[in-house]
Amino acid sequence: GKTLIAAGLAHALQTLGVDIGVMKPVETGCPMRDGRLQPPDALALREAAGLRDALDLINPYRFHAPLAPMVAAERLRRCIDVERLLERFGRLADRHTMMLVEGAGGLLVPITEKLSFLDLAVRLQLPVLVVIGSRLGALNHARLTVEAVLAAGIPVAGAIVNRATPERSLARTTNLAALRRLLAIPVLGEIPYLSGIRGHAVWRSPVLQRILASYLGDLFPELIKESAQ
Ligand SMILES: Nc1ncnc2c1ncn2[C@@H]1O[C@H](COP(=O)(O)OP(=O)(O)OP(=O)(O)O)[C@@H](O)[C@H]1O
Ligand SMILES: [Mg+2]
Repeated sequence: GKTLIAAGLAHALQTLGVDIGVMKPVETGCPMRDGRLQPPDALALREAAGLRDALDLINPYRFHAPLAPMVAAERLRRCIDVERLLERFGRLADRHTMMLVEGAGGLLVPITEKLSFLDLAVRLQLPVLVVIGSRLGALNHARLTVEAVLAAGIPVAGAIVNRATPERSLARTTNLAALRRLLAIPVLGEIPYLSGIRGHAVWRSPVLQRILASYLGDLFPELIKESAQ
């Protein structure tokens, strides 16, 4: 649900007139189209934010293999250059008022042996928004993730619970309340399974937009204060 929620938030902010920049530093599992790798997440984020920044700035590294970035790069005897990621981020951050960056997989997924997405968030000084896929196992996964973020000492924007499939289960009906009690960070709410829209355009869903709009005040207090003045 990371791309869905990041693209949905980018679109909601753009609609409010916020100049929001986006980045998907490394994307793996990219399909090949017309002899080029297409990064669907980066493209969805760019479209949702209504941007025209070059794709190579938004997504400096992309790989075909559906693997963690470190492993995908090593298979091709390449190495992901952290300085390059920081430089591209800096260029985008100079152009835009605010930046939204999507990781890949989970928080401790390796970009290189020495750098995870959590380390990257620390280097970029970005607060983390945790997206929790609601299923059996989500409590453990969410607690581990939140503990890692807090241990790194970076600010946490909050957590959003997401129902990425139509599945109905006992775990699903009880996860939100349990997470609210267990996590030491604010749980903003739950995104229902959004039926009727397929693939990457789900961020356009009016249901999603309405829910995310209600989170903006908690996620971006400065921004909402400013626009109310
Ligand atoms: N609440 C939802 N309702 C309907 N479809 C959803 C929902 N959440 C996610 N999906 C769908 O599930 C798929 C995976 O979601 P998404 O791409 O947002 O995951 P991700 O966390 O970005 O994954 P990755 O680690 O590959 O980047 C997408 O096709 C998306 O449209
Ligand atoms: Mg994604």
